[in-house]
Amino acid sequence: MHLPVLWLAVLLVALFPQFSTSLSNNGLTTAVEWDEYSFFILGNRTFIQSGEFHMWRLPVPCLWRDIVQKVKAAGLNAISVYFHWGMTNPRQGEVDLTGINDFRPLLRKKRGSGLSRGLVPSSEICTGGIPGHVAWLPGNPPWNPYNGELRSNDTFYQNAWQDYWTSVITLIAKNQITQGGPIILLQIENEYYNGAGQNEYVSSLRSRAVDLGVVIPTFVNDAGEFSNLLGTTDLYGFDAYPFSASNCGNANPSVWRPIVTTWGDYFDTVAPTQPHFFPEFQGGSADNWGNVGGYATCREFVNTQFQRVFYHQMWASGATAENYYMFYGGTTWAQLPYSQGYTSYDYGAPVDEQRMLTEKHGELKLQSLFLRSFKDFYTTDLVDIDDTSISDLYVTHLQNPLSGASFYIFRHNDATANTTFQFSYPLGQPTIASSSWGGYANYVDVGASTPFLISGPYLVRNAFLNGDGNLALWGDVDTSTDIQIFGSGSLVSVQWNSSPINIEQISPAVWTAFIPFTAPSPSIVLPDLESASTVWRFRDSLPDIQSDFDGSAMVPADQTTTTSVFPPYYGGPWILYADMYGFHAGNLLWRGTFIQGGYIEQLGWA
Ligand SMILES: *[C@@H]1O[C@H](CO)[C@@H](O)[C@H](O)[C@H]1NC(C)=O
Ligand SMILES: *[C@@H]1O[C@H](CO)[C@@H](O)[C@H](O)[C@H]1NC(C)=O
Ligand SMILES: *[C@@H]1O[C@H](CO)[C@@H](O)[C@H](O)[C@H]1NC(C)=O
Repeated sequence: MHLPVLWLAVLLVALFPQFSTSLSNNGLTTAVEWDEYSFFILGNRTFIQSGEFHMWRLPVPCLWRDIVQKVKAAGLNAISVYFHWGMTNPRQGEVDLTGINDFRPLLRKKRGSGLSRGLVPSSEICTGGIPGHVAWLPGNPPWNPYNGELRSNDTFYQNAWQDYWTSVITLIAKNQITQGGPIILLQIENEYYNGAGQNEYVSSLRSRAVDLGVVIPTFVNDAGEFSNLLGTTDLYGFDAYPFSASNCGNANPSVWRPIVTTWGDYFDTVAPTQPHFFPEFQGGSADNWGNVGGYATCREFVNTQFQRVFYHQMWASGATAENYYMFYGGTTWAQLPYSQGYTSYDYGAPVDEQRMLTEKHGELKLQSLFLRSFKDFYTTDLVDIDDTSISDLYVTHLQNPLSGASFYIFRHNDATANTTFQFSYPLGQPTIASSSWGGYANYVDVGASTPFLISGPYLVRNAFLNGDGNLALWGDVDTSTDIQIFGSGSLVSVQWNSSPINIEQISPAVWTAFIPFTAPSPSIVLPDLESASTVWRFRDSLPDIQSDFDGSAMVPADQTTTTSVFPPYYGGPWILYADMYGFHAGNLLWRGTFIQGGYIEQLGWA
């Protein structure tokens, strides 16, 4: 959210090789289709529940699997990921899709397991951060790096995105669901607006992607209910952040905003033939520089009660595709923080900056259990809203038109209220079809083998049941833990992180076991930085104190015109915008020499 950037997003899901895919009349693959209720992935109706994760905010690719496993453990079936344009294409003509810019480690399938077999959690990839070499291109009219011809159909800009777009989209196209990869959806741009040349620009990003072989649906994410960019891509979605960052930042985490009730009608008006789709729904909160509360307050503000009330309201408005921004925020390293996001990007998300699960992760899992269990919920019409029968109560009644299964979503009429009250509500004739309760067999989604529920451990990352009834579990405990295993399969033995554990069968489908916790060894002892005995080492690396410094690598800051529409306010006649000299990021070293009647400047070492 709120980044002045160019985005491209891709959602990824599982691969079903037996499904033969073809193109439908609209030129898109039949592997990802939709109607007005929900998406079909490989022919199966799917409630897309995704979590947002940014690779460069955890710039250690071997740790990405940890996040993927935590996404799966929360019961989500998709991941949304951004690409960063500035990092991928830092200099004109140079595109780097290696290291932390390479999303492919996220796509790899793990060895089969009861939790993950055939299910690669999905990803969405966005581009972000207009590189300096683009922001300072000489244009006509001159570029305004903050509000100008960037992100339009202007010829300079159209040329500027070709290298980047071609490389990134080519890699994405190779990993679409039709190619055996897990990518199901592609977002074009980010929170952008209607405007002269802007719709044309978004359309040409899409057509270029199609030329490069993209057959999955593309979509835009409007920044709100603004009807922007309708018709420029295949699908439309909008982002919703009901709670404002300034509240958590100013340590007012108990003051709620009223709930929004317009979402359902809005979707029916602007996009009546597609699922109600939230490419970003509030998963935590940004925190601005200067706020007093910090992210702990954001997590308290956008807490499990927020998840319950607002996510259920989103479902009540017919949503069947949603991406929580952020699932894991992480850290904004190096020179990438900005005024609305300092170095920590913890975001008050379900998984905190240190990758620890919070209780918000548990709430997501509860909600996922419901969604996996009740597939009738993926196809519902609004029957009615009752906010009068009981004055404090707001009830949304949804019904599956085929099975007749009814769903009632209850909340306070005034969602900001703190009162507790009891009520009884007449549900009329129960119409829940017997097929409606799919049980937890559906939890692990398509491709699961024998499902087991494991209760007790801090985290279960993976599970595998072999034909001999040996269940191998991988996970974490943070204290010695009793566990319960519920399942319909027959169980002979259980391993926890490859070590056998004793199990006791206490009823036909329930086993118990004990997992001892051993504290990590050696334990980490932080140094006392204030102690007089602490030895500090440093190296003064300033280039101009080095013996071989002769100044020849410094770039003279001698230009007197700029492509920026902002004139230099002082320091003339020379232009001191570092970008004008090719330094777009990093630490800058200015060297000035005062001469009689003025001074000269030099610049170097970005
Ligand atoms: C779709 O779901 C059904 C029911 O869960 C399952 O039998 C079928 O194999 C799924 N289709 C594919 C292509 O996986
Ligand atoms: C950009 O779009 C505008 C608005 O439709 C149009 O007038 C203009 O000719 C387009 N420019 C280019 C370079 O295609
Ligand atoms: C709910 O409680 C909080 C904290 O006590 C308070 O700030 C807020 O105003 C209350 N909300 C309402 C609607 O009374």
